[in-house]
Amino acid sequence: MALLCTELSLMRPKIITIGVNPEKRRLGIASAMIGIIEKTIKNQGVKKIFLEVASNNIAAQKLYENAGFLPVGLRPKYYDGVDAILMSKDI
Ligand SMILES: CC(C)(COP(=O)(O)OP(=O)(O)OC[C@H]1O[C@@H](n2cnc3c(N)ncnc32)[C@H](O)[C@@H]1OP(=O)(O)O)[C@@H](O)C(=O)NCCC(=O)NCCS
Repeated sequence: MALLCTELSLMRPKIITIGVNPEKRRLGIASAMIGIIEKTIKNQGVKKIFLEVASNNIAAQKLYENAGFLPVGLRPKYYDGVDAILMSKDI
């Protein structure tokens, strides 16, 4: 089981969260879901996608880096005292 939550605005589409059942991780499921959403919004004319990821969530950061996202900013104490790294990707 897996989920991907997005905010699909044309101006600033955003991945809100993504999650994969612990027993099904490292099988490429999250990467595949990101690929599908990128293709979907690209077909609607969107050129850039954004997300925030907690600075202590190394697995998610690796996932997004692996998918081609780059860090573009920092939101201090965004998640209950934990910084958020703002990332984006040109699609
Ligand atoms: C982050 C998460 C969604 C990744 O899902 P996944 O389906 O396992 O990810 P993928 O199999 O597509 O991984 C793609 C790449 O991301 C990186 N990656 C994923 N999990 C990783 C981990 N635990 N440690 C290091 N790198 C990791 C790797 O580069 C991986 O490629 P590889 O397996 O060939 O080395 C999953 O670990 C999860 O549900 N975590 C809990 C929820 C969460 O933190 N969500 C993010 C909120 S923003």
